Amino acid sequence: MTTRVLSVDPEQPDPAVIEEAASALRAGKLVAFPTETVYGLGANALDPAAVAKIFAAKGRPATDPLIVHIAHIGQLSLCASHVPLAARKLGLAFWAGPLTIILPKKPQIPDSVTAGLPSVALRVPSHRVARALMEMAGVPVAAPSANRFSRPSPTTAAHVLADLEGRVDVVLDGGPTDIGLESTIVDFTVDPPVMRRPGGLTLEQIHTVVPEVVTMTHQGSEAVAQVAPGQLTRHYSPRAELTLYDGAAERMIERVAADARTLTAQGARVGILAPEEDLIALAPELAALAAVGRVEVRPYGSRSDHARAARELFASLRDIDSTNVTHILATSIGRDGLGLAVLDRLSRAADGRVRKV
Ligand code: TXA
Ligand code: MG
Repeated sequence: MTTRVLSVDPEQPDPAVIEEAASALRAGKLVAFPTETVYGLGANALDPAAVAKIFAAKGRPATDPLIVHIAHIGQLSLCASHVPLAARKLGLAFWAGPLTIILPKKPQIPDSVTAGLPSVALRVPSHRVARALMEMAGVPVAAPSANRFSRPSPTTAAHVLADLEGRVDVVLDGGPTDIGLESTIVDFTVDPPVMRRPGGLTLEQIHTVVPEVVTMTHQGSEAVAQVAPGQLTRHYSPRAELTLYDGAAERMIERVAADARTLTAQGARVGILAPEEDLIALAPELAALAAVGRVEVRPYGSRSDHARAARELFASLRDIDSTNVTHILATSIGRDGLGLAVLDRLSRAADGRVRKV
């Protein structure tokens, strides 16, 4: 298959370009498109044959359910059999935006979309390209992140092509995504509702509207690794062995410096992925190490700007992993706001190698 790449203005998408992608969707083809969180790999959610192509293209196990994207909150009842008041309140407050809500499903949603679960995950994205695409296609769009299974989610069309060129019919290139991390998932099929995945909408924001939402993710690193049903086998696995440091900034920096020294002395090629402040603090140590071996460093945003840290995280992770380092040492930015989602993604990439300091 040849992948067609169509450039599109993220602010004012050309209707002729969107119509080309929308007609591909209606014809049962795969279309990758930008959302405000990450790029999605879309298919007509009501067409089981089209949905099957998503799993094949990604190499994703059929046991991992997909998010169904709808154009506006009015389409909720097309897909969900029951919408509790608290779910409606959350949707009204934060849609369109980086929020996904799990509700009991209607029979017209194919079982392949929900991996046989009686519930469906629903999201109204705010990105103009995504919204125009759904409106023109006239169907709900099932879309996981547009990466190969176990790769970091794509925040640019180049990331999508690196993973899926030749496996997707159309890629809409609307430039880099704004938020950079996937949506926050809240499950309303249980009481009290549970945050299944931290993401672009913070827990603090959710609690201003629905205070009863609970999460296991702020009870320590064990719980941070907890994931939504179907996500158990899924984590971002860089080629290099990633270790995550979690604690006060000064102590993380000390430990990273010490471990970088030990590893470099053993002949390992070390990469450091950290917010800018940590890399500045590490600079004298890195200068000393340069005499022994090369250490790759990549910043992701800043401790004082969590939005930028989230936006840059996946691109920096892909980038540092492509430099053929054997080890990546990563520092976290705390648990406030978007820090929780950053910590979750890095914990999964670390696959259990989390050093509490
Ligand atoms: O920001 C996002 O959410 C992006 C963009 C493209 O919208 N999408 C995304 O999809 O991150 P994906 O497939 O990478 O992650 C969706 C996760 C799945 O791994 C699955 O565990 C969970 O949502 N999920 C979907 N349906 C579910 C259900 N019925 N019950 C529990 N979890 C569900
Ligand atoms: Mg994904």
